[in-house]
Amino acid sequence: MAMLITIEGIEGVGKSTQVKLLENYFLEKKIPFVSTREPGGTKICEKIRNILLHDEMHPLTEILLYEAARAEHFTNIIEPALHSQKVVLCDRFMDASVAYQGYGRGIDVKLIENLNSIATKNTKPNLTFILDMDVENAFKRLEQRGSTPDRFEKLNKDFYEKVRKGYLDIASKEPDRVKIINSLQEIQKVHNDIIMHLKY
Ligand code: TMP
Repeated sequence: MAMLITIEGIEGVGKSTQVKLLENYFLEKKIPFVSTREPGGTKICEKIRNILLHDEMHPLTEILLYEAARAEHFTNIIEPALHSQKVVLCDRFMDASVAYQGYGRGIDVKLIENLNSIATKNTKPNLTFILDMDVENAFKRLEQRGSTPDRFEKLNKDFYEKVRKGYLDIASKEPDRVKIINSLQEIQKVHNDIIMHLKY
């Protein structure tokens, strides 16, 4: 039963909505699960998240903080949940670092992959869903949401084109693990496309 499922995608693609629908799905099926997020999931990680989302910093500092949060989160939340045979649903994980800090900020992807292996003790998700849509539409949806943007949401379209390319490259390299989901479809259809890949 133990399984690590991660949900990824650029801002505005409807990640939070799909995470909630998946939580309900596991509840209804009475499948024991833990729902968590990165950066976050523990007190220390939420503090690191607060710094990452609001303070400007050097890209190297940024990747090291994401990986520090990941190491803490993996050891304290993900690993124990997997050991007790739970499904772990994680809103963003190691692929976000490759897409955002690697493709987006230009940090060497090999370096990030090494740091990811260290932080996760060589564990990769069993399944990763990349909620995908063009940057133009994702931005429109962010505007409609109208909440106060964090420092990532203030970044420009070029940055998000690079991040999206990062995600699509990851999916093409690891098609068994990483599934691209067309998020321009209506919410329920997106959810159906996700659960189609689950063996529950
Ligand atoms: P959220 O929007 O899913 O709450 O994620 C917070 C931000 O952190 C989002 O803009 C993506 C960014 N992020 C990275 O840049 N690298 C990472 O490794 C992770 C996990 C998130």
